[in-house]
Amino acid sequence: MAFPQTRLRRLRQTPQLRKLIRETELNAADLVMPFFVRPGRGLQVEIPSLPGQFQYSRDVLLKSVGAAVEAGVGAVILFGIPDQKDSLGSGAYAKNGIVQESARQIKKKYPDLCLIADLCLCEYTSHGHCGVLKGDRILNDETLKLYAKTAVSQAEAGFDVIAPSGMMDGQVSSIRLALDEAGFEMTPILAYAAKTASAFYGPFRDAVESAPKFGDRLTHQMDPSNFREALREISLDALEGGDMLMVKPALPCLDIIREARQRFDLPIAAYSVSGEYAMIKAAAKNGWLDEKKAALELLTSIKRAGADFIITYHALSAAQWLKEK
Ligand code: PBG
Repeated sequence: MAFPQTRLRRLRQTPQLRKLIRETELNAADLVMPFFVRPGRGLQVEIPSLPGQFQYSRDVLLKSVGAAVEAGVGAVILFGIPDQKDSLGSGAYAKNGIVQESARQIKKKYPDLCLIADLCLCEYTSHGHCGVLKGDRILNDETLKLYAKTAVSQAEAGFDVIAPSGMMDGQVSSIRLALDEAGFEMTPILAYAAKTASAFYGPFRDAVESAPKFGDRLTHQMDPSNFREALREISLDALEGGDMLMVKPALPCLDIIREARQRFDLPIAAYSVSGEYAMIKAAAKNGWLDEKKAALELLTSIKRAGADFIITYHALSAAQWLKEK
């Protein structure tokens, strides 16, 4: 039946009816808040291209993590800016590395918080690349050994979930093997499965000072033009033992999130990246967008596309906005 018998506006007449038929509901528990930690004391340095986001020293970080816990976010993901960078990214797998030390501190104060470790070398290498270089090439299998060491050091530090983001082939199975051998067979892996070489990571690279000193990430991150290849990436990470699969970025990849949801029964995560946040912030600052409405709409749409949870720089504010409602 169509018009005039059918009138979709009937169910939109009142807030009560609209609420009753709402299909997608965003919860604070679906949101993961990223934090950046750097050496020092008493530091809270705003990141110019990510207004409202900061590089924190460990002492100040603890307070901000507390605010996220208070707001009820589902988890926190940590990124480190080390004191020194070198060609092998040794700060990534140092026992007393910046994220390892922070994790120990955070878990001591907030033992129930789900703490996720991003695993990559680009924040820790002097050249800004995600792996071991030979000339200007990234060596895949050599890099895997360092990822494996990093994963174990992160699990030892108390991280609850390990999230490899380097897009090396075989990274999930290498990390799984290393974790199991070290007795961390119960530590889950959140695989950055389909991650494109996106312009939307720009502000993040300012935040962690990880822009490659030469070249780009096109030999390991995916071409954003490719849908089928994204699904191959996702299915390989599932086969390699990924416990949760991530699509990144989110807004430019809603079709991939949707398809991943339909094809795989594993939990699907989406990373709404720095550029997505920066766009909203910039437009809001100019009075062109309502930040709260735009951010909540964007996050709801990512969830509607099929994501079970979302990593977003809006996690803390969104969790607080959702409480006000
Ligand atoms: C790699 C990593 C990146 C992001 C998360 N993990 C940067 C990159 O691949 O260059 C980007 C996240 C964002 O833009 O918010 N460590």
